[in-house]
Amino acid sequence: MSDSTPSAESAVDAGRTAADPELLARSAAASIRARTGIDRIHTAIVLGSGWGAAGGHLGQPLAVIPAAEVPGFRPSPVPGHAGTLTVIRLPDGRAALLIAARTHLYEDHGVDAVVHGVRTAAALGATVMVLTNGAGGIRPSWGPGTPVVLSDHINLTGTTPLRGARFVDMTDAYSPRLRAIAHRIDPTLDEGVYAQFRGPQYETPAEVRMARAMGAQVVGMSTALETIMARALGLEVLGLSLITNPAAGITGVPLRHDEVLAAGRAAEARCSELLARIVLAAR
Ligand code: HPA
Repeated sequence: MSDSTPSAESAVDAGRTAADPELLARSAAASIRARTGIDRIHTAIVLGSGWGAAGGHLGQPLAVIPAAEVPGFRPSPVPGHAGTLTVIRLPDGRAALLIAARTHLYEDHGVDAVVHGVRTAAALGATVMVLTNGAGGIRPSWGPGTPVVLSDHINLTGTTPLRGARFVDMTDAYSPRLRAIAHRIDPTLDEGVYAQFRGPQYETPAEVRMARAMGAQVVGMSTALETIMARALGLEVLGLSLITNPAAGITGVPLRHDEVLAAGRAAEARCSELLARIVLAAR
């Protein structure tokens, strides 16, 4: 008995360690440090549909790491999404982490998996978190290929990455300072409020009308939960949507995932360059 009791206790401890999302993020950060020799990053960028080529405009890649080789990350099951983590040395010496391995709530791996990239960025010392996505546009004037700066969000997922009584302020969750930099880089950029639905089905036209009545102009299936986690960890957030399609019911044309991806690819060169210019200006 005296032998089995301590080992039973350490098995419980090991179970706790595996279940602790902050420890998992620290272990991901340690793995990225070991593979790049980089001690800390300044900016982390989650690359959504249509934003994936930003790395080529940012600077010298130090390492491109398959996401599945870093604790807590997994390859994307969505066709058209890469599964890599790239560390880039920016021309001014800062380092950036590009996360092309987003986990969505609809994949059913739980909310900790959704925000693992944000926790890992914080564990690597990031102070700026850029969250990009492909999304549906509610404003009829926004055609496919329109980039939009997020001014706020509405979390319609019914969940949160925060546990217990953690009362995080969400006023100005999308940094006015970073938004101003984006507008300085491209004065034609519009702003919008993002409504995150759980998905994976696209919204019904009635749900889009609801989101519009609530004050949203953009609908998607990511970003808001990541922003909540980033704010809880003290990171400054910039949110950027690429409108890949008019939201359901806006034009009456049915939504097709392959067309949404194609619109993202068509706009990728321009959006990625815009993203890189904003990141380089945001210190
Ligand atoms: N709705 C939700 N997510 C999306 C959309 C949309 O219309 N387009 C791209 N991602």
